[in-house]
Amino acid sequence: MKRVEEEKKEGEKEKGDEPNRVPTGIPGLDDLLEGGFPRGSCILVTGTPGSAKTIFALQYIVNGALKYGEKGIFIPIEQTIYDLHRQFIEFGYDIKKLHDEGMIGILSLEIKPEHGEDILEKITSKEFQEGIIEFGAKRIAIDPLNLVLQFSSGYGGERRGIQKLISTYKRLGCTTILTHERTRGGSDIEFGVQDFVVDGILYLQLVRVTGAFGDRERLLERRLSILKMRETNHGQGIYRLEIEKDGLHVYRDIFLRSELE
Ligand SMILES: Nc1ncnc2c1ncn2[C@@H]1O[C@H](COP(=O)(O)OP(=O)(O)OP(=O)(O)O)[C@@H](O)[C@H]1O
Ligand SMILES: [Mg+2]
Repeated sequence: MKRVEEEKKEGEKEKGDEPNRVPTGIPGLDDLLEGGFPRGSCILVTGTPGSAKTIFALQYIVNGALKYGEKGIFIPIEQTIYDLHRQFIEFGYDIKKLHDEGMIGILSLEIKPEHGEDILEKITSKEFQEGIIEFGAKRIAIDPLNLVLQFSSGYGGERRGIQKLISTYKRLGCTTILTHERTRGGSDIEFGVQDFVVDGILYLQLVRVTGAFGDRERLLERRLSILKMRETNHGQGIYRLEIEKDGLHVYRDIFLRSELE
C-alpha cells in the first residue's frame, strides 16, 4: 500500500504544474478528447494502409513544437528525416528546420536483424532514456509499433514488450503515440494485445461512400473514431478526417452520403 502511494507521489512530482491534457493540435480533435490526451498516456493510432497514421503521428510531434512549445521525438522505422521532410513540406512544415532548431528529434531506425539488433531494447535502453531527458522531450511517436515488435525479442512476449515501452516513456513524463498497422478494416475489426494495454485507441479508416447526388459517384473518404480513451469522456462518433493544405482536420459531420460495406 505504502509503495503505491509513494509511486503516486512520484508521478505527481514528475507532472508538476503541467496541464493534465496534451493537445494534439489537430483542428476538431481535441474538443472530442476533453482537450487532448491524458498527460503521460500511451495512445495507439491504428488503421489500414494509407489511412494517414504516419501523417497523424508526425503532426502530433510538429504541433507540439510549433503550437505548444513542447519538444518531441519521432521514431520512424525505415524512414529517414528526408522522407519525412519531403512529405511535410507539402503541408507547409519544415521538418529539417525544426530538427536543426532542436525542437523535434528524429531517430530513424534501420532494421538490421542480421546484426541481431533488438529495436525494443534500443528504444528503452538507459542510454536512450537519458537522451530523452537531456533533449527535454514531452512527446514521443513511434511509427509503426508492428515493426518494433517484429524485430524485438527477449521480453517474454508481445504484451510484456508493449508494456515495457509504455511504462518507460510514462516514467519519463512523456505522452506517446504508437502507430499500428491493421490488415483488416471495417466496423467488426479484430482486436489484439496492443489494444488492451494502451490507454487510448484512435481508429483511422478509409471507407467507400456514395455521393450525395446519387449512386454513380463513388468516393473514398477517411474516418476517425475514438475506440478508447481512459480518464476521458470522449466523442463516440465516427468522424470525417480530411488531409488538407496544412495537414489533418477532423469534422463532426451529419453525413449526406451513405457508406458502403
Ligand atoms: N499532400 C497531400 N495531400 C493530400 N493527401 C495526401 C498528401 N500526402 C499524402 N496524402 C494521402 O495520405 C496517404 C498516406 O498517408 P500516411 O503515409 O500517413 O498513411 P499510413 O496510414 O501511414 O500508411 P502506411 O500504412 O502505408 O504506412 C496517401 O496515400 C495519400 O492518400
Ligand atoms: Mg505509415
